[in-house]
Amino acid sequence: MPSKPAILIARKVFPDIVDHLRAHFEVEMNDTDDVYSPAQLIERLQGKVGALTTGSERIDAAVAAACPQLRVVANIAVGFNNFDVPALSAAGVLATNTPDVLTETTADFGFALIMATARRLTESEHFLRAGQWNRWSLDMFAGAEVHGSTLGILGMGRIGQAIARRGALGFGMKVIYHNRSRLDAATEAECRARYVDKATLLREADHLILVLPYSAENHHAIGAAEIAQMKPTATLVNIARGGIVDDAALAQALRERRIAAAGLDVFEGEPKVHPDLLTVPNVVLTPHIASATMQTRRAMAKLAADNVIAYLTEGRPITPLNAEIIGKGARE
Ligand code: GLV
Repeated sequence: MPSKPAILIARKVFPDIVDHLRAHFEVEMNDTDDVYSPAQLIERLQGKVGALTTGSERIDAAVAAACPQLRVVANIAVGFNNFDVPALSAAGVLATNTPDVLTETTADFGFALIMATARRLTESEHFLRAGQWNRWSLDMFAGAEVHGSTLGILGMGRIGQAIARRGALGFGMKVIYHNRSRLDAATEAECRARYVDKATLLREADHLILVLPYSAENHHAIGAAEIAQMKPTATLVNIARGGIVDDAALAQALRERRIAAAGLDVFEGEPKVHPDLLTVPNVVLTPHIASATMQTRRAMAKLAADNVIAYLTEGRPITPLNAEIIGKGARE
């Protein structure tokens, strides 16, 4: 019997997903779950036709050139800034991501961070745990209203729209958004969201949430100059990607109370966190868990696996990022 083609799963995934892949492929796994160095990744990818990756693995022209048998890389994430998609297309490597399956879960978490940030959830818990609560007082940890306030959304893809619906329908918020391209009127109406320019968004939002993809163009889309345009009572939440916010500038603005508070699930250079963010009290910090429910993380891993199977067995990936290469330069 001819041996099966080989693939790499670059990080630990659920055992039944591994079994699902083993029905089609020889599977090499990363049992330690430690992130491979670029050199280790290239070494592990030798002889592999496919790989399941996460945001921790950079896949670019150098990897494609060093791994000539590699035909498909399937990110277990909707974001794919760890892929150089144009370089992969040029090399004939198909790339896929995991849209849709995480939209509602990630929007839930975005809203959790808005609530936690506005209502000072972790700050007040730290106070209580530290034994500092010896009497109740009228303005103790008084935060910002969420219901009825103005929700600003920067980046209005699937997740931004799901957050808009929660804000408008669940909390009676006035929703404004800015996006590279404006939504069609029907979608705007369904989300009850009004398109504004970025300056208006910064100026008018009581709670600003970032849900845009990371790109060179979006690097530090929120820095000192943008924070200066926000209300001093405003809050800022980032569930998009590290690097979209200038974390050093944000830490300084939080310390100087130039905005009220921030909630961050993603960081520049994560898992490292800017040390100044660890010492300011008015920030809620979580370790990149916006899509982390078991159901959703399983669905993401399953979709990534199904993309590899569907492409390598039938030539038809489910959620490709560069489908245009299929039959026109894709590696065979
Ligand atoms: C998580 O950050 C993702 O992109 O899915």
